[in-house]
Amino acid sequence: MDDILLDIKNLNIEFHDHDAPEHVVKNVNMVLKRGEILGIVGESGSGKSLTAMAIAGLLRRHDITTDGRIIFDGKELLGAKRSELRKIQGNDIGVIFQEPMTSLNPTKRIGWQVEESLRIHRPEMDKAQRYRLAVESLKSVELDEPERIYGKYPHELSGGMRQRVMIASAMICEPKLLIADEPTTALDVTIQMQIVKLLQRLNREKKTSILFISHDLSLVKRLCGRILVMHDGRVVEEGASEEIFTDPKQDYTRKLIDAIPKLEKPEI
Ligand SMILES: Nc1ncnc2c1ncn2[C@@H]1O[C@H](COP(=O)(O)OP(=O)(O)OP(=O)(O)O)[C@@H](O)[C@H]1O
Ligand SMILES: [Mg+2]
Repeated sequence: MDDILLDIKNLNIEFHDHDAPEHVVKNVNMVLKRGEILGIVGESGSGKSLTAMAIAGLLRRHDITTDGRIIFDGKELLGAKRSELRKIQGNDIGVIFQEPMTSLNPTKRIGWQVEESLRIHRPEMDKAQRYRLAVESLKSVELDEPERIYGKYPHELSGGMRQRVMIASAMICEPKLLIADEPTTALDVTIQMQIVKLLQRLNREKKTSILFISHDLSLVKRLCGRILVMHDGRVVEEGASEEIFTDPKQDYTRKLIDAIPKLEKPEI
């Protein structure tokens, strides 16, 4: 089996919703190996989320042009049929975003939402099997009393618990890739650390590759073996975490590192 899970070649993303087209992601190349945790850092507007959305197949809109190649597990995603893409979304690729409240449906119980990908990708499963897997998934993200959480509504949980629920939903089909776009930004520091540890554990135990996007370089340093630095839609630097932190090649990267608050966060 090829040890490369994701291979992005010359990805370009353009918006056409204004008079002049806006070229926002420019010739991005990246490789993510199986089992690897890759970090993407860069200031606001550098194109991190759009790159992630392109991988997840979420940019298929009339006002957006994407070109280049996104080869995931041997399949080309940018040119894939929508039906092909739907088979992959939520099954082979799971996604979590910054604010779980906007991704969770306030009117549905947690369990029902965690089971969503099973209803789509495992239609042969009956209710009891789905329930068992959902409870297992809630447990695997270290939520106490998963049976009780199953019956709750999003507003009854804390922000950290909701983010765990999002991870449980994204992981329920055991995807090969988990894309986590600023998953901890809305949470306080202690909870951020717990989520990072949880992602580390899932990566280790389930061999899920993770694309971790964050503003927070100190978190990225702890979690990711390799880091990609984006600036103005381009990848400006790439390397092993240690290398990037000890010997950044670009002034831009050095500025990002210098901006890390001197008060260091607790060690994992
Ligand atoms: N609908 C749109 N039309 C034109 N440009 C857009 C549109 N949506 C996003 N952009 C631009 O695309 C660029 C990249 O956005 P993206 O969301 O990928 O940045 P990001 O690196 O994720 O930033 P952040 O750290 O704030 O989340 C931004 O400059 C943004 O202004
Ligand atoms: Mg973003």
